[in-house]
Order: sequence, then structure tokens, then C-alpha cells
Amino acid sequence: MCKMLSRSMTKNPLLLLQSWLNEAIESDLQPNPDTMAIATADSEGVPNARMVLCKEINAEKGYVVFYTNYNSVKSIEIKENPKSSALFHWDKLGYQIRIRGEILQSPDEENDAYFATRSLGSQVGAWASDQSNPVENRQALDDQFQQILDRFNLTNESITRNEQKIPRPPYWGGYRLWIEEVEFWLNRKDRLHDRLHFKRSLTISSKGIETGDNWTVKRLQP
Ligand SMILES: Cc1cc2nc3c(=O)[nH]c(=O)nc-3n(C[C@H](O)[C@H](O)[C@H](O)COP(=O)(O)O)c2cc1C
Repeated sequence: MCKMLSRSMTKNPLLLLQSWLNEAIESDLQPNPDTMAIATADSEGVPNARMVLCKEINAEKGYVVFYTNYNSVKSIEIKENPKSSALFHWDKLGYQIRIRGEILQSPDEENDAYFATRSLGSQVGAWASDQSNPVENRQALDDQFQQILDRFNLTNESITRNEQKIPRPPYWGGYRLWIEEVEFWLNRKDRLHDRLHFKRSLTISSKGIETGDNWTVKRLQP
């Protein structure tokens, strides 16, 4: 069956975002189907992209969530300029999704709840890594891991057993990328791919987040 994109499918385009991600996960065609690139910009406006895992799509409110270290380079850049772009690509399905919007930190309760679902090894790793900062050598990084094991009275055996939990480091948590624009790209014959671009209003201020209910939609040439 020929896949196509039509405007009528997408009163709320974020449902289509959710549905493509679900399809990518269920089709099991690649490891880490929930990976997306997140681009930020440094204080001079120079772009910087890296992969992260998309841990939630909230199609109703209109954001995607990823988790990271709040002292990392990306976090420093987000603090200076919260505008960001995200990109999903599922090659075997012929799908690309581009997002633009603004990033805000997730609430602490949500961060605690998500951190508690992680394996003990990942939890210790989050404490042990001063993400994005230089380290003398690999041994020094392994020593940092061991120091965290000691701090929480754990051993490598506890990591293997994976029966214990430790609290979330205060410098580790989630970000919500609030979506202002989203574009779907569907691979089609003769490079005449389908592209649908959606935009709505998004205002983030000290008063809170205001999103427009109506999306304007444009079909773009490939
Ligand atoms: C498939 C994949 C998934 C990744 N997922 C995450 C993630 O969810 N969170 C994260 O902080 N880094 C993740 N990384 C590492 C980042 O790409 C990056 O190296 C790290 O966050 C440091 O980026 P920064 O120095 O720009 O802050 C992932 C890398 C790959 C290749």
C-alpha cells in the first residue's frame, strides 16, 4: 500500500508524531527507535546537535521529554537560549520529523519518578559522570564510578543484581521541548516526497505557557 500524508489526517499533528514513534518502536527495525537529535546553540549562536532518547511525547499538551545532566554543555546552552530543534529519522520506514520550539526543565517529581525506573547501573552512572567535562583518562572515570558505589554502600555485585535504588542526583533530570512547529516528511517515489509543516503559537513567560489550539498547515515541496 502506498503511504501518503494528507492534511485531513492531522487535526492535532502531535498525534501523528506519537503514532510514527509507536510504529517505529513496534516495527523493531532498528535499535533505539526513540532516539532524536537535539540542536541547541551556544552564546555566539553556533549550533550544536547530539542524540538523546525521547522518553515521552505529550501530544495533548504539546511537548517531548528527554533526560540529561543539568550541568552538561547542552544544559548550559539551553539556559542561555531555550530555543531548540529536534529531529527524528526512521530510515527503514521512510519517515523524518522535524520539531522547533522552546525548552523548559521538567518538574522535580517527574524527574524523581523517571529516575526511579532506571537500572541501578544507570543511576550510579548518572551520579558518576560530570557530563561534557574533560576527564584525565578512562581509569579516572572508573574511579568516579567506584566512589559513588562506596558512597551508597554498593558493590559491582549490587549492579549485577539490580535490586536496589538510589536517589536522583540534583543535577540530573528532564527537559520538555514545547512544540511550536512540526514537519512530517514521508519518503515517496521519484523524490516527490510528502512534506507537511504545522505551526501554532507558543508563548513562554513568567505567567506560564500559552499554546494556540489551532495549527496552520502547509504542504511544502520536497
Ligand atoms: C543513541 C544515543 C542516545 C543518547 N541518549 C542520551 C540521553 O538520553 N541523554 C543524554 O544526556 N545523552 C545521551 N546521549 C549522549 C549525547 O549524544 C551526548 O554525547 C551527551 O548528552 C553530551 O552532550 P553535550 O556535551 O552536548 O551536553 C546519547 C547518545 C546516543 C548515540
